[in-house]
Amino acid sequence: MSSKIYVPPIKIQGIKTKLVKWIISQIDFEIKGRWIEPFMGSGVVGFNLRPKRAIFADKNPHIINFYNSIKNGEIAAHKVRVFLESEGRKLFMKGEEYYYEVRDRFNKYHDPLDFLFLNRACFNGVIRFNSEGKFNTPFGKKINRFQKAYITKIVNQVRYVEENIRRYDWEFITQDFRKTVKEANKNDVIYSDPPYIGRHTNYFDIWMEKDEYDLYELLKNFEGKFILSTWYRNKYRENRFIKALWSEFNIVTKEHFYYVGGKEINRNPIVEALVLNFQPKTQDKSQEFEEYKEKVKKPYRSLFQAHK
Ligand SMILES: C[S@@+](CC[C@H](N)C(=O)[O-])C[C@H]1O[C@@H](n2cnc3c(N)ncnc32)[C@H](O)[C@@H]1O
Repeated sequence: MSSKIYVPPIKIQGIKTKLVKWIISQIDFEIKGRWIEPFMGSGVVGFNLRPKRAIFADKNPHIINFYNSIKNGEIAAHKVRVFLESEGRKLFMKGEEYYYEVRDRFNKYHDPLDFLFLNRACFNGVIRFNSEGKFNTPFGKKINRFQKAYITKIVNQVRYVEENIRRYDWEFITQDFRKTVKEANKNDVIYSDPPYIGRHTNYFDIWMEKDEYDLYELLKNFEGKFILSTWYRNKYRENRFIKALWSEFNIVTKEHFYYVGGKEINRNPIVEALVLNFQPKTQDKSQEFEEYKEKVKKPYRSLFQAHK
């Protein structure tokens, strides 16, 4: 991996741009099978790791559709430039009203280029779909959003993915994580980055205790290597699933700051965790963590028996 972090064209809440180096530094072995991301989101981790073979899956069909459109040539860097120049001009001329025109158009036809436009012009870059699956993030209020330098930046981001999709064997699939993990085999490496419980209110991003428990069961029985991204604690509370489920694995932690969104958990520093079923490069040996692990396990397990 080069020292420069590549940023993908579609941004998403919980994007791991600031943690990519840390996550990838754990992979100091050859990946014999596929790199598998059951929760692709922006794809920033895999796109920077650049494995020869990969499965990028997500429940959100619009993300997957965007990358499959690059793969089948419907979207290419030069088309993105022409599109954003023309749509950016209309946004500048018509203002806010035009954003909502594109939003309505997207909710009708699901054009991946409109998805890109909305992702870059909406409020705070927040991807939010309502219970009918309609994109409903309001306008980000910048009518001159698509200036030349900004368009060039996005075009370069698309070009990077385009070149890598051509070079490598990468598949993009819309599906639930349970199917993706079940289909993995012992030579594969799974990077799992699920939504955090209670953090998002997005139709494609609903995450309940049952989901966390299912993921735990699947990863526990997975014969290959996995890395799970989750949170360890924030200013106010700790992630009880670490104690209840994940503490039997290796855990490394890192303090991080989230900027996206308006909720309490997003505005504060957060200690991120990586849960691994193999020896990490940097183990957390802090007193606090050791004590934490001591207290752990069985009593908390009973919390989850109901899901079995
Ligand atoms: C935290 S984001 C992943 C972020 C990604 N690692 C990145 O750096 O951009 C979680 C993703 O999981 C997807 N997702 C939520 N529930 C899912 C499910 N049941 N199966 C598959 N994907 C799901 C969401 O659509 C979202 O893109």
